[in-house]
Amino acid sequence: MYGMVNRALQDMVSRQHGAATWQQVCQRVGVEDEFFLSNQPYPDELTYGLVTTTAEVTGWPVEELLVAFGEWWVLDTAAKGYGPLMAVTGRSLGEFLHNLDQLHTRVAMIYPQLRPPQLSCTDLTSHSLELHYVSSRAGLTNFVVGLVRGLAKRFGVAVHVELRASRARGADHDVFLVDWSAP
Ligand code: HEM
Repeated sequence: MYGMVNRALQDMVSRQHGAATWQQVCQRVGVEDEFFLSNQPYPDELTYGLVTTTAEVTGWPVEELLVAFGEWWVLDTAAKGYGPLMAVTGRSLGEFLHNLDQLHTRVAMIYPQLRPPQLSCTDLTSHSLELHYVSSRAGLTNFVVGLVRGLAKRFGVAVHVELRASRARGADHDVFLVDWSAP
């Protein structure tokens, strides 16, 4: 994954647990703590290693850490670093979720080695939908939950996110029911 992901994790962990904790994580994984360049791809194993080691060092359960990281990505990383792109992607939670693939297509113009997920929606009502998440990677289900919760906070709506079909339990891909309060 691009270094921006590792850097975002660094920001969140340093903010919430202190820079010394991040240094400890990097030492255990065997990298320098200021090592990552945003626009350079790194092996996925390194990102996964940073996540699991952060969980070990802080005692933060990895599922909760991934949810928190999803929220952080939307509310801090994307909001501060990609404001205009976030703004054109949608003016409501529903509109934004429908445009997630378009968002990553735009990101891929700047980062050509991006391997983005496929995220598509099936509308249920005016304030609920099924979100289909197809990925070449495993283990990021809770990250998606956090991303959707972060987006709901961005749009000031209360959201309920529920896993309806799970790849880890044999389904073809993850499907989430996303239900939010009408604005
Ligand atoms: C401007 C905002 C965003 C940027 C710059 C961005 C960029 C990225 C990058 C760099 C990756 C790592 C993939 C790689 O390096 O090959 C990624 C992965 C991912 N992104 Fe985004 N993203 C943004 C917003 C979002 C939002 C709002 C969602 C909400 C659902 C999302 C969902 C995901 C998911 C689920 C992955 C994991 C990849 C996988 O499953 O294979 N992204 N994104």
